[in-house]
This record gives sequence, structure tokens and C-alpha cells, in this order.
Amino acid sequence: MSSTPPARKVYVRTFGCQMNEYDSGKMVDVLSAAQGYTPTDDPEQADLILFNTCSVREKAQEKVFSDLGRVKHLKARGAVIGVGGCVASQEGEAIVARAPYVDVVFGPQTLHRLPELIDRARAERRAQVDISFPEIEKFDHLPPARVDGPTAFVSIMEGCSKYCSYCVVPYTRGEEVSRPLDDVLVEIAGLADQGVREVTLLGQNVNGYRGAMGGTAEIADFTLLLDYVAAIPGIARIRYTTSHPNEFSSRLVEAYGRLPQLVNHVHLPVQHGSDRILSAMKRGYTAMEYKSTVRKLRAVRPDIRLSTDLIVGFPGETEDDFDRTMRLIDELRFDHSFSFVFSPRPGTPAAALADETPAAVKLRRLQAVQAAIEAEAQRISASLVGTVQPVLVEGPSRRSIGPGPELMGRTECNRIVNFPAGEQRPEALVGQMVGLRIVEARPHSLRGEWAGAMPAAA
Ligand code: SAM
Ligand code: SF4
Ligand code: F3S
Repeated sequence: MSSTPPARKVYVRTFGCQMNEYDSGKMVDVLSAAQGYTPTDDPEQADLILFNTCSVREKAQEKVFSDLGRVKHLKARGAVIGVGGCVASQEGEAIVARAPYVDVVFGPQTLHRLPELIDRARAERRAQVDISFPEIEKFDHLPPARVDGPTAFVSIMEGCSKYCSYCVVPYTRGEEVSRPLDDVLVEIAGLADQGVREVTLLGQNVNGYRGAMGGTAEIADFTLLLDYVAAIPGIARIRYTTSHPNEFSSRLVEAYGRLPQLVNHVHLPVQHGSDRILSAMKRGYTAMEYKSTVRKLRAVRPDIRLSTDLIVGFPGETEDDFDRTMRLIDELRFDHSFSFVFSPRPGTPAAALADETPAAVKLRRLQAVQAAIEAEAQRISASLVGTVQPVLVEGPSRRSIGPGPELMGRTECNRIVNFPAGEQRPEALVGQMVGLRIVEARPHSLRGEWAGAMPAAA
């Protein structure tokens, strides 16, 4: 009697942004559909080890090579090692030159070719490199999305054509390309049928979306896409990331007055508070224009929360420029930020600029930015105590402190709320929109108490 061979296992280590998280999920989907791989969290158990890399800052890039060195010994028992993502895209063959034990190098747009690349690497016993940009072909070759809980990410566009002077993304991910409207809607409707209640639309500048409309010469913009997504039965919440200030049209602002499914939170990267630096960054807007967009948005949704990305220590940043960033933070009251010291990236125009600010000054500025935003985030969390918040229940809590089962979910502004299931059956609550009275604000989460079920798009 023949026994079935054990399923091959794949370990994926992800660096970088949510696009990369999304792509890592797709790698597992492709490999499981084509070659029966199952995911593992332990590289020691894996037949295939993949690194999905990020090159947005130097530190992220260098980490990949040190981590690769740590799995090199697994080659001896036949494991295949692959490097994908933005470092792969930028470095290509150079990765194999630096780490000759790597078998496969693939880019963000060629991850659907992984099964054949792996087969070829095994058959030919030499590294395979494919970092081309076949225009959005990947979406036509991916198996249907696997649902794991009530929330899901959906990529609506790839690449970026903005070429901010400091950023590698246009070089690593290629020019901006939007997926056709129908493809996005069919994917989301399929997810909703499987119980997904919240979608996060993904792309580098989602509000620059320009999707072909099936069978017509017309193009759908982001606002039209939102209208259609909001009309899909079962979709109670819509998030998106990242949006660009230049594409934040008045139509998009108006959508916040019309679509309750759009959460009360927007992530809108500003990068800096000084017009001089914004211009050197080639962002294409002034601090005043950014503030004006936020003012219009708050006129439609007074309690909308705002998060952002900030860079400190851009070449030539003076104390006065930096003060402008601090004043902007003070004025706009951001709820959260991804803030980093400028990192010169090879091949970008800003890498060639003279940079005289000492590292210690940049670090002090970064700490000031992060402390100001953290203090505001704590103030916002404290102000929620005593209110009832709509929360989408995602699953069991990892921070149970009570005697009975506890669950976790998120508020519209993405705060984790842990709460005791009480009289409710915990499994029945997963995927439900519930009302929770916030009883305590902790540094990285809230605690809540059951306050009743909520209408679908509360
Ligand atoms: N498309 C988004 C936008 O325009 O805001 C951001 C995408 S980028 C991958 C994520 C963030 O990384 C940027 O918003 C920026 O703050 C940061 N970033 C990009 N290049 C950087 C660099 N060279 N040094 C430091 N931070 C950088
Ligand atoms: Fe990078 Fe600018 Fe594109 Fe954002 S918009 S991905 S910061 S080039
Ligand atoms: Fe990094 Fe590429 Fe994302 S550079 S931030 S993984 S788009």
C-alpha cells in the first residue's frame, strides 16, 4: 500500500509594508495550490525558506543578509532558499553573488512564477533570477483568496509613479498600474461571501486608482470604487492604505459624508511640515494644502482620526524646518505615525544631496516627533473611556486577564479592544460588529465591556 508523502512546508519571513505582508500570503497561496505546500513558522522544519524583503531604509535591507546567513546551514538537508520583494527587485543577480546559497530571486511582480522558478532551480541546480515587471500579470495567475477571519486585504494597484526624491519604491515595484474595477469587486464579493466584514484596500497611492471598467472605455476613480465596494452585501467596514495628499479629491472627501462603511480613520502621509523640505522631497504639495485637505475632511467627519508618515533629518533640514514639523503635529493632532530618520537609498536623487546634520541631532528630532505623537495617541485613548465604540470582533484575545474566555476586536481607529465574552458565546461573536463600552485605556490596547450588538455599518 502506498502512503501519501508528507506535505512540503514553506516558511516565509516578511519585512516591510502591508503590501509585502499581502504578497507573502499570496506566495503561500500559489505554492499551496501548485505544489501542496503548507505554511510553517519554523525555518528548521521547512523545505522552502522565503524572505520577502524591503529596501525602503538601509537597516531593513541589511537585516536580510544577516538573516539569510542564519538559514544557510539548512541547505545541507535539501532546503530551497528564495529571496523576493524589494531588495530582490533592486539587487537581482547581486544577491546570488553575495549569498551564493540562494536558489531563487524573484520580484514583487513575479511571485506567481515561484513554483516554476523553484522547479527549475532544482532541475538545473543553479540559481534562478526573475525580477521583471510583467504588467499586473500576477493577479491573473493567483488562486482565489483564502479567508482567515473577518478581515482581509485586497490589493487594488501595484507600483508607484510619484518618484519622491528619497524613495526606492518606483524602482523596486515599477510604475503605478491599477487592477480592473471588475476584478477588484469580484474578489471582494467572494471574500464577503466567505464571511469577511472588513476590507483594507492596498496600494502605494490608492486614491490615485484608475481602474478600467469592463467592456467600456471608461475609467473608475477611487471614489467610484469605494461606492461599489460599499454596496457589496456584508462589507461593513472599508479601510485603505496608503493614500497620497495630492490625490485626495473633493469627491473623496464627500464620500465620507455618504458612506458609513468608510472608517473614521485615514492614514495620510505628510512626510514633513516645511515647504522647503516638501519641495526637495518632490511631494508636490505645501503644508498649507495638506492642512486644508484635513480641514475639509474634518468638516465632513468631525471626529475622524488621522495617522501619518514622517521623515526627519532629510538633507538640509534646519532647526527651523524641524520646528515646522513639530508645529504641524501640534496643530493636526495625529493619532499615530510611522516616523523614521531619512536613509539615503542608492539610485534615488536625495541620496546625492549634501547632508550635514549630525546623526545625534537627527535622533533627538525623531524622539521629539515620536514623543509628541505618542502623547496625543494616549490622550485620544483616554478620551474613549466611558464611550461605546463599534468593534469588529476578530477572534480570541491574546491578552486575557479575566477568568472566562476573552475576545479581541478593533475600533474604527484601529485600536485593539480586549473584552470578556460574558454571557455571549465567544465563537458566535467572531465576525460580528458589537458595541463595547471602553473601561480602560492601556498603552497599546483598550479594555471593553459588552454593550450590545451594533447595526452592520455602525
Ligand atoms: N506611498 C506612501 C506615501 O507616499 O506616503 C508611502 C510608501 S513608503 C513605502 C512608506 C514610508 O517610508 C514613506 O511614507 C516614508 O515616510 C518612508 N520612507 C521612504 N523612503 C524613505 C527613506 N529613504 N528614508 C526614510 N524613510 C523613508
Ligand atoms: Fe515612495 Fe513617494 Fe511613491 Fe510613496 S508616493 S511610494 S513615498 S515614491
Ligand atoms: Fe519596503 Fe517595498 Fe514596501 S521597499 S515598504 S517592501 S514597497
